[in-house]
Amino acid sequence: MKLTIDDVRQRFQKHLGGEPGSVYASPGRINLIGEHTDYNGGFVFPGAVEQGMIAEIRPNGTRTIKAYSIDLKDYDEFSLDDPKGPKASHFRYIYGVAKEMEKLGVKVMGFDTAFAGDVPLGAGMSSSAALESCYAFAINDLFGDNKVSKMDLAKAGQATEHNYLGLNCGIMDQFASVHGKKGNLMRLDCRSGEFEYFPWNPKGYRLVLVNSCVKHELVGSPYNDRRKSCENVVKAIKAKHPEKKIDTLREATWDELKEVAGDVSAEDLKRATFVLGEKDRVLAVCDALERGDYETVGQKMYETHYGLSKEYDVSCEELDFLNDVAKECSVTGSRIMGGGFGGCTINLVADELYDNFTKTVVKKFKEKYGKEPIIIDVVIGDGSRKLA
Ligand code: GLA
Repeated sequence: MKLTIDDVRQRFQKHLGGEPGSVYASPGRINLIGEHTDYNGGFVFPGAVEQGMIAEIRPNGTRTIKAYSIDLKDYDEFSLDDPKGPKASHFRYIYGVAKEMEKLGVKVMGFDTAFAGDVPLGAGMSSSAALESCYAFAINDLFGDNKVSKMDLAKAGQATEHNYLGLNCGIMDQFASVHGKKGNLMRLDCRSGEFEYFPWNPKGYRLVLVNSCVKHELVGSPYNDRRKSCENVVKAIKAKHPEKKIDTLREATWDELKEVAGDVSAEDLKRATFVLGEKDRVLAVCDALERGDYETVGQKMYETHYGLSKEYDVSCEELDFLNDVAKECSVTGSRIMGGGFGGCTINLVADELYDNFTKTVVKKFKEKYGKEPIIIDVVIGDGSRKLA
């Protein structure tokens, strides 16, 4: 991380004074493949990155949280007993996590805190999940004797999005932030919660993000509509097959999708088509990885981009352009990463093509849109942890 503990400690001292507190970190994430599958009970393939959030926290023996955002230079105080909580979203994440941890039986008390991050905001690398996971992990350590399981910490972050930010997200981002392990991707079955670590050291290839710098903002976005479409299709299948056990599109088959084509809107059908295709692609990528077949991995990434753009409709002109340039440069795989509507593409690039691709994509994007996209070399890092 570029961000250091000392930076955070200094600001904490300046804005909150007194004795030092404990320091915690939690990362953002990438996802190799499996987008919008998490809330559909499917598989995802994320890994934590080196960039993340760092927070210094010192319990203050009251019911009030005093919080300073170093990046936004913003301070607020809010009581754990005030049902409304703070207004600004960066503070609502902290308030929400504290309330969700209380629901899990942790006797949360007030604290003084300062926090900062180096996950680029709006890049689709889950800076919000990094923040939530950082506080969930810290609260568990400071007030909960570390009794809450890692998966429940991730769920507390997800519930914060649902209950305090209004985003009905899946579990992928918070899961990845809490469970990340250096050098490893993780395949998570979002229905059962089972997961496996996959060592990630593709010989001859690397993962590169290209940040379009089109700010992706999921809260208040059409993300929730996408989720609703999937639920509508599940309902339609259930209506045709009352005996079938189906909670999410994970349980839906291609035949059933065809059967309900006339019962749902064309838009809902298209979106569900993407999800069924994406389920198949994640499994194909897992098989390909076991064979060391990166060409197939890359081809599936392009297919995912096509689906996210043309079926799920979460792309934008700039992301499609980045994808086209990747293709022109013979990049092995490229696609929108995360929820969409802006942010980054993730690219699987052969080592010998790296220089040409990164130079070309920056140049062409700048020519067309007047600003440079940002290249981020992916380094897979550790999950939530105590630093000091
Ligand atoms: C966002 C959400 C995740 C997931 C992705 C799309 O990052 O927070 O739960 O749905 O979008 O894969």
